[in-house]
Amino acid sequence: MKILLIGYMGSGKSSVGKQLATSLNLPFLDLDTEIEQKEGISIAQIFDSKGEIYFRKIEIEVLKNLLAKPTDFVLATGGGTPCYSNTMQLMLKQPNCAVVYLKTSLHELTDRLYSQKANRPLISHLNSKEVLEDFIRKHLFERAYYYNQAEVVVDNTSSIENTVQKIKKALL
Ligand code: S3P
Repeated sequence: MKILLIGYMGSGKSSVGKQLATSLNLPFLDLDTEIEQKEGISIAQIFDSKGEIYFRKIEIEVLKNLLAKPTDFVLATGGGTPCYSNTMQLMLKQPNCAVVYLKTSLHELTDRLYSQKANRPLISHLNSKEVLEDFIRKHLFERAYYYNQAEVVVDNTSSIENTVQKIKKALL
């Protein structure tokens, strides 16, 4: 089975994904890394030099290529991946594939992202924690419509190990 992790920036898609993949003996893939490899520059540089619309176009193209692979894997998508074009429907319709939303509280996301916002182009310019929290609150509200369509919704506010167990229990 292909397992697609979705959720807001900082929701732990990569750290949970890596551990989940190890425990299921599956390869772990990261959509942002795949995009960076294809383009030969970082996500921040893509936003900077080519703009967000270009990034979204490449994001869906790379996702489609991964979904067409015959092999199974755990994939950490980008925070915006399910929210553009018909990507969420595409992921949900994919056979032998499960979409898992890692749900994380606004407070937790703000804490995590405040210290890691430098290379995230959508939030790198937000200078205070209050402004960042406000941005995330509104953005998360808009995106929750897509995230909540996932087949499995898992709360990721406790430990990574706990979250991995919850996902395995829901899927296997
Ligand atoms: C984005 C999230 C990022 C990356 C890009 C856009 C978003 O991925 O794809 O900066 O729109 O939320 P992470 O969720 O891995 O930070």
